[in-house]
Amino acid sequence: KRNIIIDCDPGIDDVVALCFAFANEDKFNILGITTVAGNQTIEKVTKNTIGLMSFLNKDIKIAQGAKCPLIREKRPAINVHGENGVGDYEFPHTKKLYSNNAVLFLRDTIMSSGEKVTLVPIGPLTNIALLIKTFPEVVENIELLSIMGGSTTVGNTTPVAEFNVWADPEAARIVFDSKLPIVMSGLNVTHSTGLFREDVNELLKSNGRVTKMCGDILNFYFRGDHVNNGTFTPIHDASAFMYLIHPELYTYRHMDVKVDCSEELSRGNTVCDVREWINYDESYPKVLTGVDLNKFREILLEDLKKLD
Ligand code: BDR
Ligand code: CA
Repeated sequence: KRNIIIDCDPGIDDVVALCFAFANEDKFNILGITTVAGNQTIEKVTKNTIGLMSFLNKDIKIAQGAKCPLIREKRPAINVHGENGVGDYEFPHTKKLYSNNAVLFLRDTIMSSGEKVTLVPIGPLTNIALLIKTFPEVVENIELLSIMGGSTTVGNTTPVAEFNVWADPEAARIVFDSKLPIVMSGLNVTHSTGLFREDVNELLKSNGRVTKMCGDILNFYFRGDHVNNGTFTPIHDASAFMYLIHPELYTYRHMDVKVDCSEELSRGNTVCDVREWINYDESYPKVLTGVDLNKFREILLEDLKKLD
């Protein structure tokens, strides 16, 4: 089993991605979840994480992380994820917060783990950057970072910047410059990792608790203007887990990734060196470039049912 810690900002697609991860506990040893301000305030995304764990009845350690980005002001994605961050869905609250210091929790959990740990950051990279800078010794014990963020092509928050990187570009730069092994699920691939309107309709009609909840919150997503004419909704964050379970679904290339931290038009852009005549070795980030969408859908839908 792969040891993982999930760093997230739920977030509609974060919720679905977390459900997908918990449907695969035979492959993942989930050591904890840390939260970061992003789609909503730290209070709301932490509340949503505790709520989802209560809903799934999982006793998992949750640590609250950064309240705001390293430098820029926080700007929640209310138009995409709603006022409460999860499309107005109301979760029960029976579980408690384990720690209010995600960076310490990450350090302690990573350093006390007998085997190396994979981090799955699916929100802004603030906590991970703080971790690397505060406790650089952790890098020895990190196997991989499977990140949802960035893009080799278009952005979603600006023409060239993806939300998670745009939200905290300085943090993203620290992480991408860290030389840690990285797999990047950027928008160029996550715009093809999601579900069609009909798939979400099926979930909505489901009698299963978890599949119905996923249908309800994904239905909210269809209000967003980022959805291709209302026919398809990306579930960006699920890609970071799908890659770990089914890497065979993806094509990839290693390349240099630099984050634009200027205050100009392309702030938050991940400048990916896609020039084909330059050969980057495996020490550079593995950037996912393609995915088998139908297999992605089938696997995601089948696995979510396992939790019902
Ligand atoms: C990313 O931004 C957030 O809104 C989503 O949860 C995802 O992590 C996609 O750009
Ligand atoms: Ca997210």
